[in-house]
Amino acid sequence: MEPFRFHNPTTLYYGKGQIEKHLADEVLKIGRRVLLLYGGGSIKRFGLYDKVMNILKDAGVTVFELGGVEPNPRLTTVYKGIEMCRQNDIDLILAVGGGSVLDCGKAIAMGVKFDGDVWDIYQRKAQATGALPLGTILTHAATGSEMNAGGVITNWETKEKLGAGSPYTYPVFSFCDPENTFTVPRDQTVYGICDMLAHCFEHYFHSTRHAPLQKHLIEAVMRTIVEYAKRVVDNPTDYDARETIMYCSTMALNGMISMGIVGDWACHAMEHEVSAIYDIPHGGGLAILFPHWMEYVKSTDPSRFASLAKSVFLVDGTGKSDEELADIAIEKVREFYREIGAPQRLRDYGIGDDQLERMAAQAVRFGEIGHFRKLGKEDVLNILRASL
Ligand code: NZQ
Ligand code: ZN
Repeated sequence: MEPFRFHNPTTLYYGKGQIEKHLADEVLKIGRRVLLLYGGGSIKRFGLYDKVMNILKDAGVTVFELGGVEPNPRLTTVYKGIEMCRQNDIDLILAVGGGSVLDCGKAIAMGVKFDGDVWDIYQRKAQATGALPLGTILTHAATGSEMNAGGVITNWETKEKLGAGSPYTYPVFSFCDPENTFTVPRDQTVYGICDMLAHCFEHYFHSTRHAPLQKHLIEAVMRTIVEYAKRVVDNPTDYDARETIMYCSTMALNGMISMGIVGDWACHAMEHEVSAIYDIPHGGGLAILFPHWMEYVKSTDPSRFASLAKSVFLVDGTGKSDEELADIAIEKVREFYREIGAPQRLRDYGIGDDQLERMAAQAVRFGEIGHFRKLGKEDVLNILRASL
């Protein structure tokens, strides 16, 4: 294992009825002036907006609103939020939505406490110097943003999508009620599943020597995702399935299963370049890229893929070499994506070969990507070409 320090300060409320019981208290611990941040309106359609507003009003909280946060949230919206917080002396940002709304909240929170352009933090030219407190109410199981410090923002003018995090951007509290995910449309549910599984893959294909417990923990989350994915896609109001999938998404990226290992993260870096230009859903991009990345890097350590086949897809490995099992694992991953209806090719999103060079160059702008296998520009280009 690598040496590590672990600290996750987010208070997590999981399950039915927790918002009604605890939201007001959590907010009032921090202050009475709240910026309510949300997306394109789904929370109004399924009633969560009214519920939250009533709780806040009854608690004597003054609410300022910023709606319309885009999927793949934009820097322009972040700037708007920073301005609103400064003008209105906001105590707490309450982000209600999916990963995009939460990530936008993190960027605003950092921006308010940063003397300069918050985009510099995403461009790795500066580090965060603080953040306004952020609370979240999650409505979509996917990113793990509810219990991690990271966030991803798109600068649509420069076509850059960059992630950043800081010790200040862990949500102070997060509410995860599976019922709030009942209305997530089928395609978004699929993208969320692809994203949480991708987070597990990024950890699983690490470059650290000897991490047996991490291996088993990651396999347990992957196995559970594979077991419950179809059920949640077919029955969006199956509480047990939504709850299980939601818990998987939190566990996949809150640091609990990945302590002491250095994950790969090349596919995330590549996907961010694709969605920076084409604005595609993050999980859809990952489902396309991962099997091609796997083909490209499988020779690095076929035994890791063999374990994936046996432990997650329950393949009987008797009499099979690691190389054979690696091929079976990749086919099982493809089959899983097909079964839940995930996209398979970049051209499914109308993407051709005209921007591949640019995406590959951008993906390695800070240097080689990946840790399981280090990838340079040519490698990225090869994987993107194979994914077309
Ligand atoms: O905008 P609204 O109207 O809310 O609709 C959203 C949006 O259209 C809809 N939705 C969410 N909850 C719903 C719902 N519709 C009906 N009922 C509900 N309960 O779903 C659509 C997608 O939402 P979005 O927040 O964009 O999805 P997701 O949670 O997948 O977030 C994606 C963003 O997170 C970043 C991605 O790159 C992308 O920008 N990521 C963030 C990470 C993190 N913070 O740790 C890690 C990830 O790897 C990822 O990069
Ligand atoms: Zn992701």
